[in-house]
Amino acid sequence: MSSQDIPEENLPAEQEHAHGAVSVADEKNPFADPGLPPHEHRVQDIDERAAKRSERTVALLFTVSMLATVGFIASYVTIDVAKSIYVFPIGHISALNFALGSCLGLALFCIGAGAVHWARTLMSDVEVADERHPIEATPEVKAKVMADFKEGAKESALGRRKLIRNTMFGALALFPLSGVVLLRDLGPLPGTKLRHTIWSKGKLLVNMNTNEPLRPSDVAVGSLTFVKPEGLEEDDHEFQTEIAKAATMIVRIQPDNIKDKQELEWSYQGIVAYSKICTHVGCPISLYEQQTHHVLCPCHQSTFDLSDGGRVIFGPAGHALPQLRIGVNEEGYLEALGDFEEPVGPAFWERG
Ligand code: FES
Repeated sequence: MSSQDIPEENLPAEQEHAHGAVSVADEKNPFADPGLPPHEHRVQDIDERAAKRSERTVALLFTVSMLATVGFIASYVTIDVAKSIYVFPIGHISALNFALGSCLGLALFCIGAGAVHWARTLMSDVEVADERHPIEATPEVKAKVMADFKEGAKESALGRRKLIRNTMFGALALFPLSGVVLLRDLGPLPGTKLRHTIWSKGKLLVNMNTNEPLRPSDVAVGSLTFVKPEGLEEDDHEFQTEIAKAATMIVRIQPDNIKDKQELEWSYQGIVAYSKICTHVGCPISLYEQQTHHVLCPCHQSTFDLSDGGRVIFGPAGHALPQLRIGVNEEGYLEALGDFEEPVGPAFWERG
């Protein structure tokens, strides 16, 4: 139904609006401004029942959005992450992902569709031409903008159509809850996990390359050997998580060359074990200089002295490398005498 089908007396009085400067094309001005076409009233402008119908449609869309957001949260809490469903034509997919995606999409779609329907059917659609003006606004222009803004707010009927206003605020207020719920996936909190590795008293030092436990005679002076705790296998589910903390390197130094008293006590016949994880930002240390007993991190060149308690002698690392206390068991294998006594890796203890 267009305004042409409506009796003249039902049409609202035409508002006074500037329709732009209309001019006629001539030789001097071949690009004449034809001005705006005549304004056509919508059915909602002249029929209050149609306006009410549109209002109810908009409110329904906002309400469906609210329900979809609630459905998103309910799906997140109740659907098993391992459950899958068949959806044509995609095939088998995760039920949780499907439910979350559907609810989130529906919630967003309904907010958008409600806003568009509201704007197209109920807000004023009178076209207004605004003349170009200098970029810097004069006080009069600013006052006009504020007046126009107030007029626009009034024409949007936000105050009058309380049902739309309230359901829209409800939909917009509820929707961010979806994001809040997803914060749960950042967890669980690490608790004390970063303070400990799986090294413990009696765990044998196993060569990372041969997968064999080491005896002191296997470690030559000047060599660098990477070790892992006994029982940690590469096909373990948690291997990467655990080795990222427990990776350790051992070197053998003449006991006379060990400068740090505690280091000497925690070593076995000059064999010292240190965390392989750089205390700067956690790269694995891999370069050893046997003459100086320095190890170098390839990422940012932090250098640690393994003959002096793993002290930092160069680079951005802020802490010495943690040392693992070792000994030998009754069968003659090298074993840990406990866990590292401080968290390994990048300066965690500054926060702990
Ligand atoms: S991570 Fe080792 S120096 Fe930066």
